[in-house]
Amino acid sequence: MAAILKTKDLTKKYGNKIVVDNLNLEIEEGEVFGLLGPNGAGKSTTMNMICGIVKPTLGEVEFLGKDFKKNRKELCRQLGYIPQQLAIHGNLKAWENVELFTSLYGIKGKELSKIIDESLEYVGLLDKRNEYAKTFSGGMKRRLNIACAIGHDPKLLIFDEPTVGIDPQSRNFILERIKESNEKGATVIYTSHYMEEVEAICTRIAIMDNGKIIAIGTSEELKKMVVSDPSTITLEEVFLTLTGKKLRDI
Ligand SMILES: Nc1ncnc2c1ncn2[C@@H]1O[C@H](COP(=O)(O)OP(=O)(O)OP(=O)(O)O)[C@@H](O)[C@H]1O
Ligand SMILES: [Mg+2]
Repeated sequence: MAAILKTKDLTKKYGNKIVVDNLNLEIEEGEVFGLLGPNGAGKSTTMNMICGIVKPTLGEVEFLGKDFKKNRKELCRQLGYIPQQLAIHGNLKAWENVELFTSLYGIKGKELSKIIDESLEYVGLLDKRNEYAKTFSGGMKRRLNIACAIGHDPKLLIFDEPTVGIDPQSRNFILERIKESNEKGATVIYTSHYMEEVEAICTRIAIMDNGKIIAIGTSEELKKMVVSDPSTITLEEVFLTLTGKKLRDI
């Protein structure tokens, strides 16, 4: 499989602190790639650099074989980013939120109306289309956040902790949608510190700590880095062995 996204020596420093350290990642087309790491590992900074929201101190991002910086407009059209911080507007109705974000990609008229309803249906909010986002529960806001980022049918979807602090029903709903998008052809990067979610939906997992990828592979490959029989260990224990940290304590 060809790489859809490559980072080359991607680095971010804030003052003297290196928060993303010389990252060379290759995401293959069609995979659900999990980026797993504790708070402060550098996951969001990495995603923000990939999407062009944070300027790298050093390094480059190549997406669909092209330099991201030089082809930003064209490449953004193929990228859907669901940020960790909600990016919806409370004083707009659900449909207006999707309209706002989807129209940024130059989509208009009948196509836009169709996409608005399809996106809201996709996240289970079509019956709430005329309600203001500020009246939504946490899980509904997360789902609306997703609807705003998928309407333009991007080739790569980046989810940054989309299930934090929401009810189990919304969480399962979101995980199912991610799997479905992948089955329909989208490549997915999924950032989380929920081990069981990453294990359930990701085809390959990178463990990140202190700005570095310290291990990468399938769940089974990661387990085999620590023990010879992968059935005797959980991913959580692998993480603890490799980093000396417990994900859940953080
Ligand atoms: N704008 C900023 N200025 C200074 N330091 C920052 C800035 N943004 C992030 N950092 C620092 O960079 C480090 C990595 O932060 P980042 O948000 O990428 O981590 P994360 O892995 O996404 O964590 P979390 O799981 O909490 O979302 C942290 O130590 C954070 O304090
Ligand atoms: Mg983060």
